[in-house]
Amino acid sequence: MIKESFSIRGVEFKNRVLVASGTFGYGDEVKDLVDVSKLGGICTKSLSWKPRDGNPPRRIVETPSGMLNSIGLANIGVHNFIDEKLPYLRQVDTKVIVNIAASSLQEYCDVLRLLEEQEGIDGYEINVSCPNVKEGGLNFGTDCSMTRRISEQLRALTEKPLIIKLTPNVTHISEFARAVEEAGADAVSVINTVIGMAVDIHKKKPKLSTVTGGLSGPAIKPIALAKVYEVAQAVKIPILGIGGIMTAEDAIEFLLVGATAVQVGTANFINPGTGVDVAEGLRRFAEQHQLADVAQLVGAMESNVEFSILQSWL
Ligand code: SIN
Repeated sequence: MIKESFSIRGVEFKNRVLVASGTFGYGDEVKDLVDVSKLGGICTKSLSWKPRDGNPPRRIVETPSGMLNSIGLANIGVHNFIDEKLPYLRQVDTKVIVNIAASSLQEYCDVLRLLEEQEGIDGYEINVSCPNVKEGGLNFGTDCSMTRRISEQLRALTEKPLIIKLTPNVTHISEFARAVEEAGADAVSVINTVIGMAVDIHKKKPKLSTVTGGLSGPAIKPIALAKVYEVAQAVKIPILGIGGIMTAEDAIEFLLVGATAVQVGTANFINPGTGVDVAEGLRRFAEQHQLADVAQLVGAMESNVEFSILQSWL
């Protein structure tokens, strides 16, 4: 029997494949389509204190091998989440990670404090990396001292796993990972979307209402791999690798460069069962390679470190 599970701060995830925030709703939307008990965990859509409508349309654009979004953190708000979504999530046989987004440090704390009073939440993922809002989002996530402060303050409020979702839209993501590790975070999610844009040449206008948005999907996988690799050189806490994972082979690449586990995101818009397929594929690969534990893949890439450009500034 192959060991597929892993733990963050004592919470055991049954396998190393979670579904990424914003790509799986609050879980209940897909309950007739996906057996979520076969996933390591569900990361919910970001929650703020009050409901948010998000940005005006158009807020999704398909691009070559990718997707641009500018949703603007549309969500039902933490109170409606507790009343309408948490009862379902309490029954699922997988770990529930609630993603929190906020416009101020106070709001992060208020949302987390209220969630701490509820049953059925296994941990938190903190979104400091949304590129589609004017307040919060990248204002926080590109400011290393602010990212550290948010992590420190939230750490003081919970004993549950605290995972910080980092943006790739900075020069050295490893500095941010180090800061949140020092602040007491238990893990980092690497990466959120890459700022991008698309233009309608006939209208001579940007396709997204907000001009720029966040690029995801296979187009960003090479970027995400390099960021995970960079972070893995810098910190000891687990890394949840995200960015264009469509298949088990993609997930294995992330593990090899240092991710402890992965999150499947944009692929869910094509097939919400992708995460389950990736988890099964990962187990099959481990079987074929006679591994006792999927952990044997984590950081197992052999590289010529002396040729690595990254090492020169880490
Ligand atoms: C959004 O709601 O705009 C996307 C969320 C994110 O990129 O963090």
